[in-house]
Amino acid sequence: MWQGRLGTIGLILAAAIFALPLYAPTSGANRANQVEVYSWWTGPGEEDGLRAMVADFEAKNPGVRLINAAVSGGAGSNAKAILASRLLANDPPDSYQRHAGLELADDVRSGKVRDITALYEEQGWKKVFPQGLLDKITIDGRLYAVPVNIHRANLIWYNPRTLRALGIAGPPGTWTEFLRQATSIRAAGRVPLTVGPAWTQKHLLETVLLGELGPDSYERLWDGTTGWTSPPVLDALDMFKRVLAQSDIASSAADWQPQLDRVAAGSTVYAVMGDWSYSYLTLTKKLVWQRDFDIAPSPGTRGVYDFLSDSFTLPTGSRHADLARRWLVECGSIAGQDLFNPRKGSVPARTDANASLYDGYLAAALREWRDPRTRIVGSLAHGVTADNAWSAEIDTALGLFLQEGDVGKFARTVAEKYLETR
Ligand code: GAL
Repeated sequence: MWQGRLGTIGLILAAAIFALPLYAPTSGANRANQVEVYSWWTGPGEEDGLRAMVADFEAKNPGVRLINAAVSGGAGSNAKAILASRLLANDPPDSYQRHAGLELADDVRSGKVRDITALYEEQGWKKVFPQGLLDKITIDGRLYAVPVNIHRANLIWYNPRTLRALGIAGPPGTWTEFLRQATSIRAAGRVPLTVGPAWTQKHLLETVLLGELGPDSYERLWDGTTGWTSPPVLDALDMFKRVLAQSDIASSAADWQPQLDRVAAGSTVYAVMGDWSYSYLTLTKKLVWQRDFDIAPSPGTRGVYDFLSDSFTLPTGSRHADLARRWLVECGSIAGQDLFNPRKGSVPARTDANASLYDGYLAAALREWRDPRTRIVGSLAHGVTADNAWSAEIDTALGLFLQEGDVGKFARTVAEKYLETR
C-alpha cells in the first residue's frame, strides 16, 4: 500500500516538476520588471563574467531584475536543445545567446528573432563593431543580434613543466610534428592529447582541417567550393584520424574543463580548446599563464584567428521586449563588454573598448585580433560557418566516422549532406 501511495505521490511530484517553468519569477507584482536571459554560462569564469554584466545592468535599471536562465553544458550542448523546444512551444526567453554566423541566420530565416536595426541606429553601433562581424549578424541589410565578445578556437594548451619533463622543446608547429612528439610522449607513459564530448571532437576536427588545408581552402569548405572528397581534404581527414588515435578518446573527459584539468595535472600533454579555457585556468584553478600552463596557435595555424562570437538576440514573442532591449544595450555597451570579457576569457567585440583592461594572454589576443595582418576565419563547432541543418548532419557523420574510421565515407556524406541541406 505504501508503495502504491509513494508511486502516486511520485507521479504528482513529477507532474508538478514538469509543469514548473525553468525559472521562478519572484512575485506576480514584480514579473513585469523581470527579464529572462538565456545562455550556457554556468561554469566559474564565464558565470563571473555574466554576473558582472548583470550587476551593471541592474544598477543602471533600478527595479529591474534579471533572471539568469543559464543551462550548463559546454558549447551549449544542452542549452541549445532545450531552447529549441521552448522556441517550438512559443515560450522564448526574453533574450538568448546565439553565435554570430549561420547558426543565427537560421533563426532569422525561421522568424524566431526580431530585427534590431533600429537599436543599432539609436546606439550608433554600426560604427563600433568590425564590419566582418556585422556581416555575420546581418541578413538582407537588417541586424539581428548584439555581439558581446570574440573568442579564438584554434589554440593548443599545455603545461610547460610537462614538456620540460619530457624533453620536448615546444608545442608542435604542425600536426605532423605532433605525431612525432606523440610517439615519444607515449613511450614516456603519458597521453599526447585529451578530448571531451562530441562537440570538442568537432572542434578538434575544424582545427586539424584549418592547420592542414590553410585558411583559403578551409574557408571554401563551407561554401562547397573546396571539394570534401578532394585529395587534400581526404589527407587532412586522415590526419584527423591519426591525431585522434593519439588521444584519450576511449576514456574522454566529461567536458572542456576536465580536459584542461588533465593538461594542468600533466597526465595528458595537450588539449585543443578555445580561449574560454583561459578564465577557467586563471580564475578558477588559480594557475599562472606561461608558468603553470601555456597556449600556442593550434598546429599549422600561426597568424590565423579562428573566431566565434557570442551574441544576444531579441526573440519574437519575448514577453518583456523593452527590458530585453535594455539588456541588449548593456551587451553592446563598452562598460558591459569590459566587465564581461576580462572575466570570460574573450576579447571585446567593440573596437573602442578599453584595451588596458586586458592583460596576460588576453592582451596578446586583443593585439592579434586587431592586427590587420591577422587572417580571420570562422568556427564550425561554434556556429559561424555551417547552418544548423548541415552542422547536425556533420555531427551524425562524425559520430559514425569515429566508430568506423572510414575517411572516404565521411567525406562523401558531408559533401552530400551539404547539397541536401541547401
Ligand atoms: C562556446 C561559447 C563560449 C563558451 C564555450 C564553452 O560555444 O561561444 O562562450 O561558452 O562554448 O562552453
